[in-house]
Amino acid sequence: MNTSQKVLFILESNKDTYTSGEEMARQCGISRNAVWKAIKDLRERGYSIDAVSNKGYKLTGNTDIISAEGIMAELPEALRDAEILVYDSLESTSDKAKELAVKGAVHGTSVVAVTQTGGRGRKDHSFFSPEGGIYLSIILKPEMLSETDSKAVTAFVGGAVIDAINELTGIKPYIDGINDLYVDGKKICGILLESGNEFDSNTLQWIVAGIGINFDSDISRFPEDVKERAAGLFGPGKAAITKNTLIAGIIRNIISST
Ligand code: BTN
Repeated sequence: MNTSQKVLFILESNKDTYTSGEEMARQCGISRNAVWKAIKDLRERGYSIDAVSNKGYKLTGNTDIISAEGIMAELPEALRDAEILVYDSLESTSDKAKELAVKGAVHGTSVVAVTQTGGRGRKDHSFFSPEGGIYLSIILKPEMLSETDSKAVTAFVGGAVIDAINELTGIKPYIDGINDLYVDGKKICGILLESGNEFDSNTLQWIVAGIGINFDSDISRFPEDVKERAAGLFGPGKAAITKNTLIAGIIRNIISST
């Protein structure tokens, strides 16, 4: 982690309290001046940070920027060694995750993007992926799963997402179709499961669970054909929790129960 990432992790881990510059410097093993520079850098990146003399720094409530540090801060300590990669934009988080899976990435490796330029759905459909959504792909290794048939994994991933949404927001989506999640008749989430096999031994090597959630997306800007059937979990800018919190909840439900 670089200095700004370390400072961000401290801020994200202490959202309700001020942390003094001195304490941050001590925890990061850096100077007060380096802390101040990191705060300046984070503000330039869009973080709204409150500074009060004699108290220190605190993120203000309206910061909802996806970051690996923000997700990590919401995970239980036992899961903090999970590999979490966050990108501003990717063609598809599942394509990136598949690339990593082929190279031997470990169970639970998670790829997140703020937007996707070529988000994919089932049966070659595209998945419209503007800012405001959550685009997350998690690598699952078969040896870490209790069951690996497609029905069981589909139910497991769908259930993990539903439970995370329900635990954190009180909203209870239901499954319709193969693994689409709905609230009040509108699709709020699509899930795409893909796998890699060693062909000659017919051995399952990895599964990538790609999860796309309309979080606080502006549905009025969605393509006409999608607009009527889709909804966001929250209205634009009206979210009761941050995207980092929900992403961490999903990762936690998936990796801690496998
Ligand atoms: C569907 O509705 O048919 C499934 C949609 C799955 C979308 C997610 S978003 C994250 C991951 N990356 C992709 O390109 N697709 C999945």
